[in-house]
Amino acid sequence: MRLFIVARTVSHPTPQNASIVRLLLSPVMWPSAVVLSRWLISNSSVLSKANRILEIGAGCGLVGLLAARMTKKQRALTTLDGSASTNDDSPPCEVILSDFNHTVLENLERNIALNEVENLCRTAGLDFYQQPGTTQIGWKDMEGHSQSPVDVILAADMICQPSDALYAANTIYDALKPGGRAYVVCADAAHRFGVDHFERECSRVGLQLKSCSVGDHYPSLVQGDDMHKTAGFIDGMNLTMFFIEKPNQ
Ligand SMILES: C[S@@+](CC[C@H](N)C(=O)[O-])C[C@H]1O[C@@H](n2cnc3c(N)ncnc32)[C@H](O)[C@@H]1O
Repeated sequence: MRLFIVARTVSHPTPQNASIVRLLLSPVMWPSAVVLSRWLISNSSVLSKANRILEIGAGCGLVGLLAARMTKKQRALTTLDGSASTNDDSPPCEVILSDFNHTVLENLERNIALNEVENLCRTAGLDFYQQPGTTQIGWKDMEGHSQSPVDVILAADMICQPSDALYAANTIYDALKPGGRAYVVCADAAHRFGVDHFERECSRVGLQLKSCSVGDHYPSLVQGDDMHKTAGFIDGMNLTMFFIEKPNQ
């Protein structure tokens, strides 16, 4: 994967969270994106039946771009002479990289081109704070257009302050199809304020959720020097993986 990386911002900053805003302006990738990407590589089946995949709070887009590359590979049967043909059993796929920050969105466009996934990948403006958490018909983009619900949502370290937990849960509820699933990794609340509210907010909107400590269940995902190159990684930092499902009605 090749990525341009830009600074990113916290939404709706207040004087109380000024220190978080400074932290989140670090122009590098976050540890949860690396962990979720590593997990996806070993669990590619979660993408194989999805025809719409959405990354929320995408930042530089590592997870969504990886999903696009994996999907592209899964759906191309490479023949011996090197040409590719489409696997007819698979539905056409779309991967949407979303964020609320316009600079981040412009950078995501560049990263889509850099990774040659323009055919199945696009960007969309999506602000968690514009999603009511009550719809069965999809999410609203930042231009006010309704967008169809998706099969799979991917998110890494998208909760940056306590109120984000509520609106991120709303977003996941609105954006998932009934029966759809979200895979989310976040650093714990000691390092990302608000993550401790996330389970409660998911339950409030009617999402089913299981969670586990990445360090306990997937220790290999947090090993290696690469983790130290991510923003704000601290040895012993606990990351949580959330497995979320929107029940069928
Ligand atoms: C800590 S960064 C994580 C970025 C990326 N997922 C990663 O792990 O490297 C948080 C991301 O969430 C986005 N974000 C913050 N508030 C948001 C909101 N209200 N709606 C949508 N995205 C938001 C930021 O622009 C930023 O890209």
